[in-house]
Amino acid sequence: MSLVYIQHSHRKDEHVFLAEKFYQAHTANGLAEIRLIPNNLPEISVTEVDLSTTLAGKKIAVPFFINAMSGGSPATGKLNQRLAAAAAQTKIPMATGSQSIALQFPQAETSFKVVRQTMPQGLVIGNIGANHNLADAQAAVDMLQADLLEIHLNAAQEIVMTEGDRQFYWKDNLQEIVAGLSVPVIVKEVGFGIAPATLRQLRKLGVRNVDLSGHGGTNFAKIENQRRRQKDFALLNNFGLTTAETLLASQSLAADFSFTASGGIRDALDIIKCLILGADNVGISGLFLHTLIKEDVDGLINLIEKLKEQLKSLMALLGCANISQLRQLPYLLSPELLNFKQQLK
Ligand code: FNR
Repeated sequence: MSLVYIQHSHRKDEHVFLAEKFYQAHTANGLAEIRLIPNNLPEISVTEVDLSTTLAGKKIAVPFFINAMSGGSPATGKLNQRLAAAAAQTKIPMATGSQSIALQFPQAETSFKVVRQTMPQGLVIGNIGANHNLADAQAAVDMLQADLLEIHLNAAQEIVMTEGDRQFYWKDNLQEIVAGLSVPVIVKEVGFGIAPATLRQLRKLGVRNVDLSGHGGTNFAKIENQRRRQKDFALLNNFGLTTAETLLASQSLAADFSFTASGGIRDALDIIKCLILGADNVGISGLFLHTLIKEDVDGLINLIEKLKEQLKSLMALLGCANISQLRQLPYLLSPELLNFKQQLK
C-alpha cells in the first residue's frame, strides 16, 4: 500500500473525527434570524400535505437528503454502508464524499461502491472536486452508477490545508463536465456559501443546479486548521456567507437555477425556512453523521422519519399543501439580515 494512499485515506478519517468533535447542537447558519408568521386559519389537514419536490430535475418524495461526507478509507467505507442503509430504508437520496481518492487509488473504490450495493434502487449522488475533467467525472459516475454528480468548489478549505491545492482554474472543467456528463451536475460549496456573483458565472458555464452550502454548520476552516501541526491558520474560521444569507442572496437568480440549501441544518423548522426562502431541497451532513455515531442506523432512521412527520405538521400549520405553496409565504428578517439583503447584490 503506498504511503500517499495511506495519507489521503487517513485524511478522510480525520475529517469525520473532527466534524464530530466540533459538532454543535445549535448552529450559526442565520436561519434563527428568520421568523415565520402564523396562519391561524390553515384550512388543511396534515394528511393532505405533499412533501415531494425535485433534486437536479429528479423527482424526490421528501425535500431533504444525506449530503456528501464519507468514503476513501476502510472506516469511512463502513460509515457509507451505514448511511446508505438508513437512506435505503427511508427512501431518501444520498451523496458520497469526494471520489477523487478512488480515481487515483483503485483500492479505495469499494468504500464508495458499497453505497450503490446497499441502496440498489435509491438515488445515489457521486462527488468530485472541480479540479477534475470530464473523463474523471464520468468515471466517478460510472463507479457508482450514480444518478447525479456533485462537484465541490472548496478553495477556502484547500487554502487552510497544508497539503491543499494552490491553483484554482476550474471553469473550463465545469463547462466541459456540465456539457458532456451522462447525468445532471450539482455544483456545491463545502460550507462557505456560494455568492451571487459566482452564480452568474456558473450560469454562463451552463450550471443549473447549485447547493449553496453556507457557513454555520460543519466548518472546514476549523477542521483543516486543527489538522495543521501548528494550528496557525484560524483566519477563515468565520469566512463565508451563512446558509440564510446564501438563500437571500440567490433569490434574484431563482429563475435560472434549482437550489439546494445546506449548512448547519438541525431540524424540520430549519428545512421549512430554507424551502420558504427558495430552496427546492435541503442537504444534511453533520447532523446525520452525529446521529449515526451516537445512535447507530436505527437512530438515524428514526430521525429521518421524525423529520418527515414534522415537516408535514409544520406545512399544515402554515396552510401549505405542497412545497411550491411554501414559497409564497411571507416572513420577517432580523435587522442584520435585512441590512445584508440590501447590501449584497
Ligand atoms: C463533508 N462535506 C463534503 N462535501 C463535499 O462536497 N465533498 C466531500 O468529500 C465532503 N466531505 C465531508 C466530510 C465530512 C465528515 C463532513 C461533515 C462534510 C461537506 C458537506 O457536504 C456539507 O457541504 C457541509 O458539511 C455543510 O453541511 P452540514 O454538515 O453543516 O450539514
